[in-house]
Amino acid sequence: MNTFLGVTELAVPTHDHWRALKLRSEALPESARRAIVEHWTRSAQMEHASVATFSYFSLQLLAVGAPPSLIEDAHRAALDEIKHAELCFSLATTYAGHAIGPRPLAIDERALTGCDLQSVVVGSVENGCVSETIAALEAEAAAALAHDDAVRAVQLRICDDESRHAELAWRFVRWAAKIGGAPVRAALHAAFERSLERLEGVASHESTHEHRLEAHGILSEHRKQTVRAEVMNEVIRPVLAELVS
Ligand SMILES: [Fe+2]
Ligand SMILES: [Fe+2]
Repeated sequence: MNTFLGVTELAVPTHDHWRALKLRSEALPESARRAIVEHWTRSAQMEHASVATFSYFSLQLLAVGAPPSLIEDAHRAALDEIKHAELCFSLATTYAGHAIGPRPLAIDERALTGCDLQSVVVGSVENGCVSETIAALEAEAAAALAHDDAVRAVQLRICDDESRHAELAWRFVRWAAKIGGAPVRAALHAAFERSLERLEGVASHESTHEHRLEAHGILSEHRKQTVRAEVMNEVIRPVLAELVS
């Protein structure tokens, strides 16, 4: 079991958790309920798209001759994302009071990056090392603020899995830097610099409405900014310093 962020048990909502959430959601004001449904539907759609991301990453790993353990974990990660999509659609459905599920996923071939080592490394920095670390830390923060057991269990499960996905990305870029040498390390450096610029450019604002939604597992922009700052200072900057040295 992964303990990257201290999550030691695989959290799964029980039937009682779902029933309690349904009762609580029925008592919510309509505007709050709508905002929560929109959030969990959007999250579910993003998790659904992540299934395709890992399927494509598996192909990229094969194309660059990555070790079997990385390929195996990439396939496992795609299965995790199917579970995340299912859980997030279940939350959207429970809050909405009617079924909400996935639609056919549009695959834009132009968005698929190349299969050469440098392109795969650059994609892994953004989609894996940075985004998965942010996703894990956001889920951990959201779980701590959630009032319902069902929401907390979903966020803990996501936190646990995204931590493992981040670790997979880090293992891959370390392997790639070793076999790719100076050109790959230069591409890594540039990719982390771009991530830093992107994260620094995201503004945050305080919103009372958003803070009220945190009880339902939805982080405010202000809280997300704290997570991003943590990732910048404790993950990206030390890596950049290491790459320069
Ligand atoms: Fe996910
Ligand atoms: Fe993930």
